Amino acid sequence: MRDQIKEFEERTGHTVNIVAMPSSSSEQFGQYRLWLAARNTDIDVYRVDIIWAPQLASQLLNLTETTADIIGQHFPSIVESQTVDGKLVALPFFTDAPALYYRKDLLEKYGASVPETWDEMAATAKMVMDKEREAGNPDMWGFVFQGKAYEGLTCDALEWIASSGGGQIVEADGTISINNPDAAAAIERAKGWVGTISPPGMLAYGEEESRGVWQIGNSVFMRNWPYAYALGNEGHSAIKGKFDVTTLPIGKEGSRSAATLGGWSLAIPKFVKDPEAAVELVKFLASPEQQKVRALVAGNLPTIKSLYGDAEIAEKLPIIPLWEAVFQNAVPRPAAATKLKYNEVSNNFWTAVHKTLSGEGTAADNLTALEIQLTRLKGTAW
Ligand code: GLC
Repeated sequence: MRDQIKEFEERTGHTVNIVAMPSSSSEQFGQYRLWLAARNTDIDVYRVDIIWAPQLASQLLNLTETTADIIGQHFPSIVESQTVDGKLVALPFFTDAPALYYRKDLLEKYGASVPETWDEMAATAKMVMDKEREAGNPDMWGFVFQGKAYEGLTCDALEWIASSGGGQIVEADGTISINNPDAAAAIERAKGWVGTISPPGMLAYGEEESRGVWQIGNSVFMRNWPYAYALGNEGHSAIKGKFDVTTLPIGKEGSRSAATLGGWSLAIPKFVKDPEAAVELVKFLASPEQQKVRALVAGNLPTIKSLYGDAEIAEKLPIIPLWEAVFQNAVPRPAAATKLKYNEVSNNFWTAVHKTLSGEGTAADNLTALEIQLTRLKGTAW
């Protein structure tokens, strides 16, 4: 990002300062909401999570006209997710769909195959972890994921549930579907991982904490986004060249793998002092040229269709061309369905899951309570 900003400054004569944010999407959201409500004029461009568009729309500049010349380069489904009441409120910057990362070397060493179901994943994780511990690595774990009470847990748990036939929390038509036996079983299954194949500290892990354990070589499997692919293959990484990625496991035979659709866009607050300069920056960063740089350097999946056929990207990051299909079929969180209430829906959901993983109540009881909370939150309509 800093290199890209430098290039922008040289080309345009503008000066850009970067404000570092906490890595948790939920913490960023809280901070952005405060800044936007206070009409903070220090921030001209926000990097926003795709799920926030409906909730932040009223405070963001309509980019429909200023981006009309380039918007056709982007995947229409992503553009649509950033369009609220006919107004484009954020320009797609990169898209995200997670994978199951696995240690190719260790699976080969112990003759294990790449797992297709969550149960196979857990069994292989346990077998390899036990053998590696016997062989002298007491810090070895089987599986790391995002277990902290925040947006990341909503993404992970949605995958366990959707890949087990348990629905998508709130369906596209607004129906609250979460309180069902398949969803409860999927969360109970994940509870079984905590402290056995996953470190007990998992309940406080975000993406970066999981990657920390994985990248020093202490986990057989990891659920994470594509950025971890680029970092895992960097010069000093302990697992460079030793891992591969595959689609996330399914709950049972016949169900479909589910990857939560993620991603980030660039938005400008309505009360920005210099809208022209802000638009120039947003268009520069989201351009095919700069998205290609981010794909090559940071493993960020482009939102521009043509880049999926780019030979240089395919060579450096073989997952990217393969990922086009994955993210086109990715499962959206119910941000569009629950409109201005998405963050509360997600917060209630991740809390119910986190409680279950921590041993506070069964999944069935916690989902029953969650259904009551969501019904109250919905009122007569979302
Ligand atoms: C990734 C995704 C984002 C998601 C977040 C959760 O950054 O791109 O959409 O909300 O992870 O931790």
